[in-house]
Amino acid sequence: MDIILLGPPGAGKGTQAERLVTNRGMVQLSTGDMLRAAVAEGSAVGREAKAVMDSGALVSDAIVSALIGENLDRIETRGAIFDGFPRTLPQAEALDLLLAERGRKLAHVIELEVDEEALVERIGGRFSCGTCGAPYHDRFKLPKVDDQCDVCGGHAFRRRDDDNEQTVRRRLAEYHAKTQPILPFYAERGILRPVDGMASVETVAAAIDSILDG
Ligand code: AP5
Repeated sequence: MDIILLGPPGAGKGTQAERLVTNRGMVQLSTGDMLRAAVAEGSAVGREAKAVMDSGALVSDAIVSALIGENLDRIETRGAIFDGFPRTLPQAEALDLLLAERGRKLAHVIELEVDEEALVERIGGRFSCGTCGAPYHDRFKLPKVDDQCDVCGGHAFRRRDDDNEQTVRRRLAEYHAKTQPILPFYAERGILRPVDGMASVETVAAAIDSILDG
């Protein structure tokens, strides 16, 4: 089963994707993570993407669609969770083509609905393990033992360069201008499933489970 997790920055896409990977053996395909890996490697794509990401704007459709295509080929028959992709109408059309070429089809587009001021707080407090990437939050999810990752035991943590208020506001504006317009594309197909993203992580997870099992 292939699904999209859609929502503005900080809506909880990565948090819910991680859970679906653990509980259902699905594969998370996050264009944000792929781009950050390319930046860390210093590849040509990474060098092009870095300044765009730091400004809060969107990287080109061609680059992110190619990244998704490459990664789809690696996951075989396991269900894909598209996290942060598609973000524009051309990306949504490219995804249709990429899936059709591989005999795959979208089952659900889960839209996490959230309050925007809360998002700034969520993103401002976010950090992750520098070793395994497990996500944490200053207020909502601290490691169980101080300065030690619950998952891998690592002691180094990091914060993203684009998680500051000014960039978050630009990312939200990009979401409204370019990503929200793709919602009708999926609503017309009858596969758009809105979920209250302001509920607790567990309640959001239960709502997603009932959609996937329904
Ligand atoms: P990307 O990495 O995709 O970032 P984003 O969409 O802005 O989303 P985030 O990762 O910030 O948030 P999230 O929804 O995953 O929330 P999370 O689970 O972490 O993209 C970054 C940049 O890359 C873009 O700006 C763009 O430049 C580029 N890019 C990426 N994809 C692209 C594409 N397709 N096209 C063009 N450019 C692209 O949760 C946030 C925090 O809240 C966490 O701390 C979490 O613990 C907490 N939290 C989560 N759920 C809850 C809850 N229910 N209650 C309380 N706290 C919660």
